[in-house]
Amino acid sequence: MEKNKIRFSKLGFIFAASGSAVGLGNIWKFPYIAGENGGGIFVLVYLLTIFFIGMSIFIAEVLMGRNTHSDAVSTYEILATKGKKIWKFAGFSLFIGLLILSFYSIVIGWILNYIVIALTNLPVNVKEAEIVFMDMLKIDYASQLFYFTIAMIIIVYTVTRGIKKGIERFNKILMPMLIIILSLMLFYSVSLDGFSKSLEFLFFPNIEKFHTSSIIVAVGHAFFTLSVGMAVIMTYASSVSREVNIVKTSIAIVLMDTIIAIVAGIIIFSILFTSGAEPGKGPGLVFITLPAIFYEMGVAGNVLAILFFISLAFAGLTSAISILEPMVMYLEKRWRVTRVKGTILTSIVLYVMGIFALLSNTTKFGKSLTFGSKNIFDWFDFLSASVMMPLGGIAVAVFVGYFMDKELIRKEILPIMGGFFYTIWMFSLRFIVPIAITLVMLNEIGILKI
Ligand code: PFF
Repeated sequence: MEKNKIRFSKLGFIFAASGSAVGLGNIWKFPYIAGENGGGIFVLVYLLTIFFIGMSIFIAEVLMGRNTHSDAVSTYEILATKGKKIWKFAGFSLFIGLLILSFYSIVIGWILNYIVIALTNLPVNVKEAEIVFMDMLKIDYASQLFYFTIAMIIIVYTVTRGIKKGIERFNKILMPMLIIILSLMLFYSVSLDGFSKSLEFLFFPNIEKFHTSSIIVAVGHAFFTLSVGMAVIMTYASSVSREVNIVKTSIAIVLMDTIIAIVAGIIIFSILFTSGAEPGKGPGLVFITLPAIFYEMGVAGNVLAILFFISLAFAGLTSAISILEPMVMYLEKRWRVTRVKGTILTSIVLYVMGIFALLSNTTKFGKSLTFGSKNIFDWFDFLSASVMMPLGGIAVAVFVGYFMDKELIRKEILPIMGGFFYTIWMFSLRFIVPIAITLVMLNEIGILKI
């Protein structure tokens, strides 16, 4: 097949990779963790970790994928200078995607449900908003299942269409729309009374609420938000042509991800402060606090609510398709399974896992689907985001830092990065990333208490 039929164009790759990075993590999670961790100072630490830790791994993943044009397992195997047989297993970080996607698409389902709620009847106050959310989560599993199924169908259909006609096209439509919607909302939030307070909250350090554990939260989130550590960026980069400048492209994507998180934060906090609500609302911020505020705002609130949940759905869907691709590419390249078959097979497994995760949140089945301290939904989240993704990230850093051909790395990266930044990048991969991530993981698992 002609290469340009199966590979991203330059712009296509930028849209697809930033579509993967910009997701629920930016619009849902970033604002609430910034709120819980004191705003400004957290944002500062987050920016530092994004640029020193996240971006280093991002560049490393793009470098790896683009050099082999193959699936993650083969990529490690081909590029390892020693221990090929062992390194091959690092490529299985692509399995993490199954865990993430099974709960990520449930949340996309909630968002689709909330688009309908925004269109029909928003809850009139926070108390009612809480009832609406809890009812969906704990009792009404039929509609959760319905929206989860719709999310899965969109994701699966896009991936079966392939890199160009599916993934690239989907991102090229949804990402500009997402940017337009967020820009409109940003313009609107400038006119709100809470706007200046929101800027102050996000950009002026508030030391009181900041704890050492906030650093850990920032590092963990830097990972999740850039989609690194689970072979997603590596796999996308394997479908990119050689003319792409690895460093410039990575910087553009990381910047886009960061700007969108901050813009989402400004919008959400402007709305929040205008209504006099508190910033530290936790995960319920988007599904409970905001809908009630939207109701208070009258017609403008309805329009905002619809735009807001559509933007969340777009952000989530473009990330979700990226999580499915590594598994499909692996089946295609290593097992010679066709794209359509591979996608359908993987999604059947995903769908079943998703149903268990979904039911584990309900009152009816929750007890029997809870193991130890967590139900299946929370286990999937915890295992993937707190244990496996960091491990996948360390693997990339250690691999490029110590086990890949030095000459090849130099030849590819040094001319475009320059000696100074190259040294910092290598230092970050060899030392900063492994140490920082090990600390994060030990803390998350509870072995270390920072
Ligand atoms: N980066 C996405 C977000 O911020 O929501 C989530 C994500 C996508 C995580 C892809 C991991 C991944 F491989």
